[in-house]
Amino acid sequence: MAEKARIAVFISGTGTNMAALLYASRLEDSPYEIALIASNVAGAGGLDLAKLEGIPTFVHSHKGLSREDHDAAMEAAAKSAKAEFIVLAGYMRILSDGFVKRWEGRILNIHPSLLPKYKGLDPHARAIEAGDSHGGASVHLVTPDLDSGEVLAQAKVAIAPDDTAEQLEARVKLAEHQLYPRAVADYVSRGNDPDYLYSKVCELALALPETHKRDSHGSPGFRVGSEKSGKFFAHFSQQHHGSEHIAILVKTSGMDELLDLVEAQPETYYKPAYYGASGWVGLILNRPGVDWSHVEEWLERSWRAVAPARLTKLLDAADMF
Ligand code: GAR
Repeated sequence: MAEKARIAVFISGTGTNMAALLYASRLEDSPYEIALIASNVAGAGGLDLAKLEGIPTFVHSHKGLSREDHDAAMEAAAKSAKAEFIVLAGYMRILSDGFVKRWEGRILNIHPSLLPKYKGLDPHARAIEAGDSHGGASVHLVTPDLDSGEVLAQAKVAIAPDDTAEQLEARVKLAEHQLYPRAVADYVSRGNDPDYLYSKVCELALALPETHKRDSHGSPGFRVGSEKSGKFFAHFSQQHHGSEHIAILVKTSGMDELLDLVEAQPETYYKPAYYGASGWVGLILNRPGVDWSHVEEWLERSWRAVAPARLTKLLDAADMF
């Protein structure tokens, strides 16, 4: 199994979600481990449990500090624990934009509502008040706008006719304890998940004009032009011919450029078997920090290299706006 992803969990309260994350991380096949439990509240319930279980802890009160300074202290602790992801579990602080941007795509939160409903405070009371049939919880990526990042997973919880907010909250927590460890595990693994990588590539490749999928030598490929006479501009390669890479093969200008790329950035590019001989370079997707806008640029460039002029002109015109 690949190395486990290191996560720092931030808490402010009782820490029951933290406990669920912690015990799930102890299961043999967990793809993540907890590197640090950090809190802004000295007496936060979860800290004692973390200590008992031998997890490093860090506490730094926010009192008297600017938001940026407090975030910087928490961030320094996460970094020194070598955390790759920050997982908020009842962390009742709004994070500064700078902090969120520095960790973009690497901070997750759980919120006790079915987002986009009931962002912010008192979601249970608001769901009951609105007469909703269900409340629930959502795991989402953290962005500068409160509770508004991409939703990764949700769990629904039925609302009883005579429910109080407290009763609903207690049942939603049970659901959260199932949901959060699973969502974190899926998220930290998705960079190595061929299905996820393939779906991202499909989204980008098929967004280009007049493109379609076509298998070639048993692997999925992408063509531009008609179904009958289209030309390949990309091939998806999943650990082919003994390579450990999951990659998208795109067209370079020729062997010189291909070899230069591979030499300068061997963690990003490789020369694939067979296809390499005709100038296709492998852009590696199963690596940390893959930049999807870079993948998008390569797909567009490769598409341009084989697309008919009437289509490239169309894209040029669109790019001007
Ligand atoms: C959880 O219900 C979590 O969804 C909520 O705080 C609770 C923490 O409980 N988070 C938010 O409301 C964030 N906006 P816990 O400390 O027992 O895990």
